[in-house]
Order: sequence, then structure tokens, then C-alpha cells
Amino acid sequence: MSPCPSQVFPVVWYENSVLLIDQTRLPHEYAFVEIHRCEDMVQAIKTMIVRGAPAIGVAAAYGMYLGAREISTQNREEFLHQLEEIAVMLRATRPTAVNLFWAIARMLKTAYEMLGSVEQIKQALLHTAQTINAEDLQTCQAIGDRGLEVLPSTPEKLNILTHCNAGALATAGYGTALGIIRCAWAKERLARVYADETRPRLQGAKLTAWECVQEGIPVTLITDNMAAHCMQQGLIHAVVVGADRIAANGDTANKIGTYSLAIVAQAHNVPFFVAAPLSTIDFSLTSGDEIPIEERDASEVYAIGETIITPEGVEFYNPAFDVTPADLITAIITEHGAFAPNQLQEKLKEKNLV
Ligand code: MRU
Repeated sequence: MSPCPSQVFPVVWYENSVLLIDQTRLPHEYAFVEIHRCEDMVQAIKTMIVRGAPAIGVAAAYGMYLGAREISTQNREEFLHQLEEIAVMLRATRPTAVNLFWAIARMLKTAYEMLGSVEQIKQALLHTAQTINAEDLQTCQAIGDRGLEVLPSTPEKLNILTHCNAGALATAGYGTALGIIRCAWAKERLARVYADETRPRLQGAKLTAWECVQEGIPVTLITDNMAAHCMQQGLIHAVVVGADRIAANGDTANKIGTYSLAIVAQAHNVPFFVAAPLSTIDFSLTSGDEIPIEERDASEVYAIGETIITPEGVEFYNPAFDVTPADLITAIITEHGAFAPNQLQEKLKEKNLV
């Protein structure tokens, strides 16, 4: 096993480049990849060296800066034109998590609103990327606190099931779903995490389990098809998952398998919570039907690691996300509080947050 980091920061600005924890090598190796160029950030997002909705937003923001600093023109219009081309390249990496698009839009806004020289725009872009990074940490801590307020009050110590990895590795360094779990652990409200292994890429087995072990949080790994049985046995008191994109009506896209988990939770009367920052909500989409679902390479399905598990002649389907209808979700927990999914837009409007 690798050395244990006391806290995990998957995207770090360090000495003029970006350090990414290579999430494809965990849990066996805790290694960093140094990113100097936007093209390398594009590859890192596509190959999931960095993954998780808020983390790819932060990575894309730095990618915008890395691309911007390579632009040689001093002409503002030409600079903005080339920056738009960089944005196109970064947007094409992964389609589902809206945080990526949100962060790129925020970087472009910075550039357009900065009226100084090209060099000043570049400095403003770095500042915005660092701000997005720092804000996400605070946001996740707030989600953790808000989540603690709505977790079931009994039993005193809860068993919480989570899917995929919505932890420090998936954000700037604290986690959304796992942030709530961290808070519950700190306040002695958690007995144990049940982590779904999360086929096909095994983020639960590899990443969530690793994060829990680093912090001494008791964790039990189950395969995805064990959740119903565990609920039937009364082992699960709540489900808490992250999100990649939430439509205005509360329908939520998250890692494939989340939808079936929500159905199973409802069947067993287990509360099902979605934890996400406001940057994951896409009010331009009326329902989850409009959320683009990424399809990934068949090799993720026909092999586990290097081992091919299927016979010749089989066909494959590999959607990376699914959409959980709002009516299966008990509450959506944001940094500004927990909301019934069908009241999300209205309540955020009341708070002037939309
Ligand atoms: O394909 P991934 O690993 O990027 O998918 C990650 C998830 O589905 C997470 O649950 C989601 O991004 C929320 S992360 C706080």
C-alpha cells in the first residue's frame, strides 16, 4: 500500500503546473501526474486520471488557463477567439457532468469581462481557476454540514450506503456524498459506510473504499447487486450519492446504477439523498430526459483490469450514467440547504440563488 495522505487534493496548482492524483492507479499506487499543457489536461479528463463532476470542473478551469498562457498574440480579439477554441476542446472531453461546462463558462466570463491587456487577462484566468478550486472545498464542507441536519435521527449511528465515488477525489478535496459521511463520522453519527463496488470502473471499490480506509472510517464493500439484499436485511439506514447533473425538476444524473439503487431504496423505505453543489444544477434543462449520457468504451465492460471476461461474439452497451427521477429522491442536499427535488428551483429562487 502507498503512503497515507492525511487529506486528499486531486487537483493542485503547484509551481506553474497542475498536479493531478492519478486516479487510474489507486488504490495500489498514490502517484501524481504533472500537467503543463491544455492538451494533456484534455487527455487526463478523458482517460479519467481526474474524474468526478466538481473535480473535472476544477481541472477544466486550470486547463483553460494552461491553454491561455500558450496563446502568443497580444491582440485581445484574437486572444479571445483562440480561448474559445480551447473551450471547445475541453467541453468535448466528457458530456454529462455540467460542472465542466459551468467552470469553462466562468473562465470565459472572466476573460470577456477583464478589460486590460492579454497578460492581465491571463493572470485573471489563473486567479479564477484557483478561486473555483478553493470555493469547491468550502462548498463541500457546507454540503457536509447541511447533510448532517437531514440524515435520519435514528438510529444514533447510521449505516450509509453510497455509490461510485463522490469523495475528496471527485471534488477539490472533501467530497459531496462522502463529505456528508465525513461529517457524520466526525459527529459520531456514523456506524459504517457500505460502498457499492460500482461496475464497470469500480470507483466504489477502488476510490471510495480507499478514502474511507485513509480516514479510519469503517467501510464494507458490496457488489452492486447486493444493495437490495442489504436493505431487506435492515443493514442500510440511508443512501447518499453524488450527482453529475441535476435538471430543473430535480431529475438527477449520476453514475450508472444510481437509478436502480433509488428504486430499491424506495421499495425498502430507505431515504435516498443526493448531495451536490449548485454548480451541478442545470436549470436550462426542464427534465432529466435532456441530460446527455456519456457512453464509454466497451473494454470497460468486457474486461476487469487486464482480464477479458466475455466470450467472442458478444455485443456491449456502456452508458456511464443514468437518470434517477426526482420522485425517488428524498432530498437534494446543496451548500445552501436540503430541498425536496420538486421545490429545488422555487426555493433557490426565493434565496436569489438562481
Ligand atoms: O465517471 P465518474 O467517475 O467521473 O463519475 C463520478 C460520479 O458519478 C460521481 O458520483 C459524481 O460525479 C459526483 S462527484 C462529487
